[in-house]
Amino acid sequence: MLFFFGRKAEKTAGTCENTDMERKLHLPDREEAERILLEGLKRNPGKWGMHSRNCADSAEAIGTAAGLDGNRCFVSGLLHDIGRRFGNVQLAHIYYGWKYMQELGYPAIARICLSHSFAMKTVDAYGGAFDLKDNEIQEMRDALKTMEYDDYDRLIQLCDNISGASGIMRMEDRIADIISRYSHFPKEKRQATFGLVDYFEQKTGKDIYQLACGGHTVDHY
Ligand SMILES: [Fe+2]
Repeated sequence: MLFFFGRKAEKTAGTCENTDMERKLHLPDREEAERILLEGLKRNPGKWGMHSRNCADSAEAIGTAAGLDGNRCFVSGLLHDIGRRFGNVQLAHIYYGWKYMQELGYPAIARICLSHSFAMKTVDAYGGAFDLKDNEIQEMRDALKTMEYDDYDRLIQLCDNISGASGIMRMEDRIADIISRYSHFPKEKRQATFGLVDYFEQKTGKDIYQLACGGHTVDHY
């Protein structure tokens, strides 16, 4: 039995056989990740659930084409926003997700919760409200400084920015949607985020939207 900010959380073992990577990295299997998401959505229902599912599917499709582990991509996408289970928060969803996944014993997912909004590797480029205590923000700054991003971090940063609640979106449309809900999306962060499209298109040799949409163009998804 685990406790987080005074709230009780229960961890159950997945019923599927765990893969080698899941065992080595202490990743949840798909069934466990789904259970964690559903439990979070019961606490705080919202569009973030469908956004997370689209992020998981696109991460699996693009990540597999880039030679990454499909299961790890999928569960990382599914749980990257799990901090939203604690309410309608902005910067705080990153901190809460990071801590919650650490507490459940999933450090590889915890780092995704931390890195997914920071393509520039700096908390200060975040476009929404800084709804955390100063020491919590500093804790994130310090952790990011020591972190070396890998392709799983980059992949979820990419997929977070092409996954809407209704499906895959072009990055420019998704960023416009983010700006309409938050205050801004700094120019440098925009460049870093668009750079992820080029990075994965070079890695896969394919159009990332076609990969994410199962071969269809984004306009027909
Ligand atoms: Fe997200």
